[in-house]
Amino acid sequence: MARAQPRYVCQDCGTVHAKWVGKCEGCGAWNTLVEEASQEAPPKGLGGKLGKTRSIDFVALRGTMEPPPRRISGIAEFDRACGGGLVAGSALLVGGDPGIGKSTLLLQVVAALAQGRGKDKDRLSCAYISGEEAIDQVRMRAVRLAVDGAPVDLAAATSVRDIVASLDRVDGPDIVVIDSIQTMYLDTLDSAPGTVSQVRAAAQELIRLAKRRGFTLILVGHVTKEGVIAGPRVLEHMVDTVLYFEGERGHQFRILRAVKNRFGPTDEIGVFEMTDSGLSEVPNPSALFLAERNAKISGAAVFAGMEGTRPVLVEIQALVAPSPPGTPRRAVVGWDGNRLAMIMAVLDARCGLAIGANDIYLNVAGGLRVSEPAADLAVAAALISALTEQPVPADTVVFGEIGLSGEVRAVSQTEARLKEAAKLGFAGALTPPRRGSKAARDGAIKLREIAHLRDLLVLFDAAPRKGAATPKQLA
Ligand code: TYD
Ligand code: MG
Repeated sequence: MARAQPRYVCQDCGTVHAKWVGKCEGCGAWNTLVEEASQEAPPKGLGGKLGKTRSIDFVALRGTMEPPPRRISGIAEFDRACGGGLVAGSALLVGGDPGIGKSTLLLQVVAALAQGRGKDKDRLSCAYISGEEAIDQVRMRAVRLAVDGAPVDLAAATSVRDIVASLDRVDGPDIVVIDSIQTMYLDTLDSAPGTVSQVRAAAQELIRLAKRRGFTLILVGHVTKEGVIAGPRVLEHMVDTVLYFEGERGHQFRILRAVKNRFGPTDEIGVFEMTDSGLSEVPNPSALFLAERNAKISGAAVFAGMEGTRPVLVEIQALVAPSPPGTPRRAVVGWDGNRLAMIMAVLDARCGLAIGANDIYLNVAGGLRVSEPAADLAVAAALISALTEQPVPADTVVFGEIGLSGEVRAVSQTEARLKEAAKLGFAGALTPPRRGSKAARDGAIKLREIAHLRDLLVLFDAAPRKGAATPKQLA
């Protein structure tokens, strides 16, 4: 038999190399190659001889099935982001920047599960394994969060071999938190904890055990500078659910966002506020995001957005300032810089509003990250409002996607957006043209359809003009 050739596989993207190199030729990542025994050694196939086999049973697509039972923590914002609670035997990854509050959140969650604060009042047996903090540190946090009375089993450990050995028993826990997966190591591998191969191997062992023993495994993963969890693709593929915990460090709002969920909808969010005694739930995020709004100032528009199935109103703020000679500055927080560039180009090319020579700052108030194209129209409204120094019509929400010719396109879930706006006391909405006959809606909200960006300019008295427009010229 031919000797198996060693091969080196990038743990990030899976590219196979014949020789070890520092930098993966596939994805350019450094130090991600790991030697794996070649599986291709005996490529013999079955050769027509089947030998002893067992036939597999096929079943109909339709059949009786039970929805997986959920483990409800009673922290509604967390349960919602998980798609309605945790599933037994599943693995969940909670990613986020260091210091954003992952350990705080999960300690609160396991405490709630252990105390049976969910609606079924089931007290689950929970284990919290910290590889980052000493027992005393976790205890101190528990006191601060006022959950030190919860019957949670606490351990400080990093050896996956020891952890697996301790959890592999019939009366093992229902929920296991590993904080964080980057600190775990398997002694069978040479590489250091936190490397992709270690993270992957450790996660694999733990996930396998979770499936076998039926506990819910929650892995904490730190996000790297580039904004991805170390070994992202490997980990994201291996787990059933991926939640990202996001927020601006200086802000108290935190958003838990489902980016993958085998048991529920994605893009579902849970909103929290970081307080002195831990994370508290924000059941009505729109009210909170708009709390500090001053409707009379120019350069701000309220966007009626959707986060998963949930409508969320946020304020989009823009500042347009004459730029000193040189390249104008662009600073965007909470939105996509490329989309801002596109909207500015459309304003320039299709509406004759030369905004590009100015410094532009765009901010989504409250620390939310908006990724919907539906925010285009609100961004445009904020920009025009800033440039013309005229406020957006009072008590009006804005949404609509902008196409490259300046047309405003329909977006999904219009009704839900309008309903949320009405609930928060808004009286009007700038919306894309509505197909069909529902245009005249005699609801609480007066709709103003914007078919093209030019129609938006008219609202601001900023007639399209050629040449550079500075705030002074337009005023
Ligand atoms: P932590 O949960 O340790 O973050 P992570 O596990 O994601 O690294 O949160 C740390 C931050 O949260 C720290 O800056 C202090 C702050 N914090 C509060 O504001 N209130 C609290 O009750 C707690 C426990 C932490
Ligand atoms: Mg932590």
